[in-house]
Amino acid sequence: MQKRLLIVSNRLPISIEKNNEGYSFRQSSGGLISAVGAYLKGQGREVFSEKVWAGVPDCDEDTWSVASLNHGGTDYDFLPVFPSTSDYENYYNGFSNSVLWPLFHYFPSLADYRPDFFKAYELVNEQFAEKLSPLLHEGDTVWIHDYHLMLLPGLLRKKNRGITIAFFLHIPFPSAELFRVIPRGWQRALLEGVLGADLIGFHTAEYVSHFLKSLELSIGLEQEDDYITYQHREIKADAFPVSIDFSLFDTAHSLGKVSLARDKYLAIKGDKKMIFSVDRLDYTKGIFNRLRAFEHFLTTNPSYFGKIVFIMVVVPSRHSIFQYSDRKKRIDEFIGRLNSTMGTISWQPVIYQYDHLSFEDLLGLYTACDVALVTPLRDGMNLVAKEFVASRNDKMGVLILSEMAGAAFELTESLLINPNDVLEMAEMIRVALEMDPLEQGRRLSVMRERISRYDVNAWALDFFTQLNRVKDRQKKLD
Ligand code: UDP
Ligand code: G6P
Repeated sequence: MQKRLLIVSNRLPISIEKNNEGYSFRQSSGGLISAVGAYLKGQGREVFSEKVWAGVPDCDEDTWSVASLNHGGTDYDFLPVFPSTSDYENYYNGFSNSVLWPLFHYFPSLADYRPDFFKAYELVNEQFAEKLSPLLHEGDTVWIHDYHLMLLPGLLRKKNRGITIAFFLHIPFPSAELFRVIPRGWQRALLEGVLGADLIGFHTAEYVSHFLKSLELSIGLEQEDDYITYQHREIKADAFPVSIDFSLFDTAHSLGKVSLARDKYLAIKGDKKMIFSVDRLDYTKGIFNRLRAFEHFLTTNPSYFGKIVFIMVVVPSRHSIFQYSDRKKRIDEFIGRLNSTMGTISWQPVIYQYDHLSFEDLLGLYTACDVALVTPLRDGMNLVAKEFVASRNDKMGVLILSEMAGAAFELTESLLINPNDVLEMAEMIRVALEMDPLEQGRRLSVMRERISRYDVNAWALDFFTQLNRVKDRQKKLD
């Protein structure tokens, strides 16, 4: 068994809600939490003797101190970090989600390069470092996650030379041409920050090559023999496509609560066909084009009138940023118009829910639908696509997947579409609905086999094996 693992991410894995009985907890949304949380519940339990998860709670300090006492059920400790409200606003809504998120997802026109955003980003990363540093001992492994904390590896390296630091980016790393749009000093700070890690993980080989090119163009650093040498330390950057707990999704089909949820959705479906989509409300997810494609499908396939229903779940996300709240209004309007112009008193083409889903409802929908529509304009990986495939142990159902999602590199037997091509998407909806069940089974079997072989435990094992190799090599060179 290895020693202590400290996981660090902006968001903690639990979200706290106050209600009449006190506090309720739910798993925080998003792929990072799903993947790392699944690993800690799975093989991660055995691999590390002690585990701590550091991040910013989604409540104030007083609420956290009372609520966290009532939270059990994890075998890791929480290390809460509390930035001031204004620093957090400029770091999270500002630099993280109004500069890095849009730019790294190829929406440069949405990026707002405000110096006060970057200042707050530095301050909050520094605050994480100050909180963690005094607790770190030799032999600890610190695993830092995602674009909110790109400066943290470098800050920790300066303070604690002997520790092992790993970094994983859960979103795309953009082409060097796009990365160099960022003001030069910030480019350098971000890259040098990440280089504080011993191992830097990305979802795909393409993102790794973009990162290496940016190192070359922005700070003149070149990789040799698969390693980057920076400040006399050898560092590795590599691809580790994040994954899911395959067996959890595979076996969930027959769980009592999932069956009940499925029955609920099958009752809505009746003898109609059902399409399903779920994503956070985010402009990267391609929600509008998906709706446009569904509308076009109905227009060009009138025989499906009254015989199909599209259940679209949109999970609230980052609503204090205009680009997000504005889209919410426009999605509501789009669906209202589509339902009123195409629907009838007895048939609503789109059933829309703007809320979080429980695990049972999510699985109920994955396993009740005929087609899953996953159409991001850009996505680092997209775990929903993998979860849908894993949950179909009945070998029925069709995945329509955007080629702009990292998952498209692995899920090649899905119906791959260009998310900007509304006509192609509409035609693929028809192809999916009319696909022979044997063909559905054949495609799902190949993809299920692939995900089961590289599940979330294999992902983490692959990552930590590489990390150990890098550390061994560093020791030999010392
Ligand atoms: N998910 C969730 N709450 C919900 C619906 C979905 O936490 O109400 C989960 C879903 O199961 C998946 C993750 O959120 O594991 C979404 O990850 P993905 O990589 O698809 O997209 P991200 O939100 O990270 O951009
Ligand atoms: C993506 C990011 C995560 C983030 C999640 C939810 O998956 O990669 O870092 O936690 O979205 O977004 P939020 O802003 O609510 O944390």
